[in-house]
Amino acid sequence: MKRINKAAVLALLAPLAIAVTPASPAAAADCSAYPWMDTRRSPEQRARALLAASTPHQKYRWLVEQPANSPQQTEWADGVVYPAQVPCTPTVVYSDGPDGVRFTPGVTAFPATIATAATFNEPLAYVKGAAQAAEAFGKGKNVLLAPGLASGRTPLSGRTPEYLGEDPLLTGVLAAAGTRGIQSRPVLATLKHYVANEQELDRQTSSSNAGERTLREIYDLPFEIAVERGDPGSVMCSYNQVNHVYACENPRLNQVLKGDIGFDGYVMSDFGSVHSTAPSLVNGLDQELNRPIWFTPARLDAALAAGQITQRQIDDAAFRVVRSYLRGGLFDHPLPATPVADASTPAHKAVARTTAEQGSVLLKNDGLLPLNPRSGDEIAVIGATASRTPTGGISASSVCSLPWRFGSPQTLQCEDLVSPEEGIRARAARDGATVSFDNGSDVAAAAAAAAKADVAVVFAYVRMGEFADLTDLRLQGNGDALVSAVAAANPRTVVVLQTGSAVEMPWLDRVPAVLETWYAGEQMGPAVAALLFGDANPSGKLPLTFPKSLADTPTAGSPEQYPGVPVDGIRQVSYSEGLRVGYRWYDSEGIDPLFAFGHGLSYTTFRYSDLRVVPARGDVRISVRLTNTGRRTGTEVAQAYASLPPSTGEPPKRLVAFSRVTLAPGQSRTVDLTLSRADLRDLHLLQYFDGAWKTARGTYGIQVGGSSKSGLRAAFRL
Ligand code: BGC
Repeated sequence: MKRINKAAVLALLAPLAIAVTPASPAAAADCSAYPWMDTRRSPEQRARALLAASTPHQKYRWLVEQPANSPQQTEWADGVVYPAQVPCTPTVVYSDGPDGVRFTPGVTAFPATIATAATFNEPLAYVKGAAQAAEAFGKGKNVLLAPGLASGRTPLSGRTPEYLGEDPLLTGVLAAAGTRGIQSRPVLATLKHYVANEQELDRQTSSSNAGERTLREIYDLPFEIAVERGDPGSVMCSYNQVNHVYACENPRLNQVLKGDIGFDGYVMSDFGSVHSTAPSLVNGLDQELNRPIWFTPARLDAALAAGQITQRQIDDAAFRVVRSYLRGGLFDHPLPATPVADASTPAHKAVARTTAEQGSVLLKNDGLLPLNPRSGDEIAVIGATASRTPTGGISASSVCSLPWRFGSPQTLQCEDLVSPEEGIRARAARDGATVSFDNGSDVAAAAAAAAKADVAVVFAYVRMGEFADLTDLRLQGNGDALVSAVAAANPRTVVVLQTGSAVEMPWLDRVPAVLETWYAGEQMGPAVAALLFGDANPSGKLPLTFPKSLADTPTAGSPEQYPGVPVDGIRQVSYSEGLRVGYRWYDSEGIDPLFAFGHGLSYTTFRYSDLRVVPARGDVRISVRLTNTGRRTGTEVAQAYASLPPSTGEPPKRLVAFSRVTLAPGQSRTVDLTLSRADLRDLHLLQYFDGAWKTARGTYGIQVGGSSKSGLRAAFRL
């Protein structure tokens, strides 16, 4: 993968700083006497000095979120008592979420993570992480429970919008970039949820049962890449079991995550995902999230006395937590005494808007887009989610961010939301066009509104989020009927999708244009308007396959695979599709998707030529000539896929490199997609797992193009 251009990123970051009340200099002076506050020492030395000065129960505090993070509080529910912490340890506050600083007023409502994935833009993922972390810090929070990553095993999974799609490489490198962005502030990132946490249905009472090769190549690999390239302070273990053992007491924590992958931060649990004291600590859990339940002083003392845990294991867990806090700057940059009222800034809002623009995917366009209305033309905007005003409780705000739990507020408050209706009205006015709005609740009325307009833009949605999976891939809110009726009334109909995952489109042949915008955040109005009118040229690419129907998905028709079959209260979920997840499945089975992984159109066109693939000095040099053959400046995400020799038994192809390239009309550039020696080794680009990562001898294929489905081909031998 390409290294991020630091100068460009720093330029974007310059305005991100938030003014906060500085920590009291007196407090800093008092602390200078303690060796763990000596910034000339390494984090390791400081952590060791702190633990050497701690009593056993002061050490225990680090093993549970609340006692670790509120150093002076000594009493908790159920009579749990600790001594106060040693002096000069920081107050630490955790904040959920991958999308933005959740449940907090005065922050930017960034688009959902799946939109970041669709940008295929590492520097943007970094900048978004940095902006979010700046807001978190300003709001008095210094650990983010983000980024979220999973492997997109089924598009029904409720948290799909919180994750980065179905490809391990794309997910891993974007999570790494987001992590580095977050940790460019005195804020820690937390990769979550480790591992094979692929459904919400019975997530606390299900076992993800998969072979080691499948786990390593599909489910561990995104974490491995994000750890290797992002160096997160913490990783959160998941609710589910992995092969019948709860993730937070699974030997994989020590053996794979900390051992083979080399993660040296601390493992925290999810909220209520701990089920034991000794097995959890022994197998690598370092910190229980929230209040003390399993890692109370009484339980740790008893386990120690019984010889079920060792002092060394306690010390190691405490050390990992303290060292991460030190490395992340949490000891040296105290949280502001008074949180800022409004942490959102124009620069952060620009990041939200850029992500919404670059993350929207133009799925289909028969030439209707971009809109180019004449003065006096009427644009009919249709659908409840286009408007600020709710219809039956649904408005643009319902798809600005994720619904957290149905019936509860969105994860992000979207106080500064600009609705699509507002964005389109403002933009249309510049061309002298008018806009009518119909909320779509009466399909016949919506069709009538569409019929009398020059063009109809119909908004259709699926709301999904934590705690529940989808039960189908259909539009909600009568969307299919609405789209069909509007399209029948006006052949010049654009469908704007606001979904968190793939969706079926039974009406696709009857509409000329479809734009997927996901949950586009507070700047959705200006972003959608800019895309529809061509002020911004679409460049997003699908980070997950859109199947023609749910029946085509890897787990369809097999309750053993999804949602699993309960045995003694635990749903046993067989990952028998193995490596065939996402596009790997559709390719293996020869199933044509509706829209392939990596697909996304532009208002210009690109030609690929002169593909060259040469293994040399440990690298595999790949280059291709890319030409903008259309009439607008546009950005293409050039993608390289590799096919491994058949002896490996791998699915037909995998993403190995990508690059966003902006070209003026007629301009050509040679795009470098080289697989470097370091990437080949660290990201396992051409390897398979068979007890260890291995590289097969034989013939490899390379495909380079604008989606997983098309491109120029070449081969080389290793
Ligand atoms: C979620 C985590 C989240 C935690 C704390 C849990 O329900 O699974 O992703 O970080 O709550 O809010």
